[in-house]
Amino acid sequence: MGKITAAITATGAYVPDYILTNKILETMVDTNDEWITSRTGIKERRILKDEGKGTSYLAINAAQDLINKKGIDPTEIDLVIVATATPDMKAASTAAYTATQIGAVNAFSFDLEAACSSFLFGMSVASSYIESGKYKNVLLIGADKNSSFINYKDRATCIIFGDGAGAVLFEPNEEGLGLQDELLRSNGEGREFLQATYGGSSYPSTPEAVAEGKHYIFQDGKTVFKNAVFNMADVTEKILERNQLTKDDIAWLVAHQANKRIIDATANRVKIDDSKVMMNIQKYGNTTSATLPLLLNDYESRLKKGDKLIFAAFGGGFTWGSIYFKWAYNS
Ligand code: UT7
Repeated sequence: MGKITAAITATGAYVPDYILTNKILETMVDTNDEWITSRTGIKERRILKDEGKGTSYLAINAAQDLINKKGIDPTEIDLVIVATATPDMKAASTAAYTATQIGAVNAFSFDLEAACSSFLFGMSVASSYIESGKYKNVLLIGADKNSSFINYKDRATCIIFGDGAGAVLFEPNEEGLGLQDELLRSNGEGREFLQATYGGSSYPSTPEAVAEGKHYIFQDGKTVFKNAVFNMADVTEKILERNQLTKDDIAWLVAHQANKRIIDATANRVKIDDSKVMMNIQKYGNTTSATLPLLLNDYESRLKKGDKLIFAAFGGGFTWGSIYFKWAYNS
């Protein structure tokens, strides 16, 4: 028997109904549709408004979509990983709640947090469990309710982020399809440029901190932008080189949707044509852990068995990386 590889065999997705358009944002902060569109590529984003519903609500719905499409029995799922930067609560695992709600009663589950790289790093973790032969059905969900820590008076962040979730199923493959290679990195010196300072263990929430909005996410956009462009392009170029791939070999670039200009810069560095760059930032904005699976779900009907994909992401921490992946099915 040949080496077992880890392939994606199904996708699912969920975004909330409420659409926050650039036009609506114009009434909330000093901004305009033209600036947001030209500087980020974003036209609208989805927001989960219902009180008491958190990231697990998004994750459960995305997983349910996958389960219905694939027709898989949830009791056969071995492991549920929820990649997220916005867990429902402290101390209580979002993945445990999600797994139970979808009927994955025989699975163990955990959350994985690496900011906007959470799903990419989750692909590595899910694949390792499959490649080792330990588990057969690993459900990886990328879900974030970013609106839970956005200050809708801060134009540097509120125009960018949205809520959503995407799910993929990893299964063993004996044709060599699925994850081929990965280059994953982090640098903790980056955390001062993108963080929600209060509400964690370093600085627990206080009434004063909340009154000053210090529990909201803050970013030094320019510094994050520069690092994202440099690092995402760098790992993407390296992974192509070390797998002897040219731009013509690649069917799709699947890049984290943080800013269209960052994605374009990555594609330009490796000379991948625009027509091969998956893009849905215009309708969802930056959904953090959900961007990559939402792309896969949106483009699923256009993906063919054997297609060579390059994934790339960059996020807070800093965290970043690239994965070379062969698609395993026609839908
Ligand atoms: O997933 C990883 C997390 N985040 C990211 O990857 C985000 C990375 N950063 C970015 O995408 C960009 O830096 C932003 C979209 C956040 C900002 O774009 P920018 O091109 O870096 O703009 P800037 O901050 O340099 O600001 C340019 C101008 C400034 O005006 P002056 O000083 O030139 O007069 C800003 O005050 O645009 C102004 N500006 C705005 N104007 C209208 C900043 N934000 C806005 C806004 N609407 N929302």
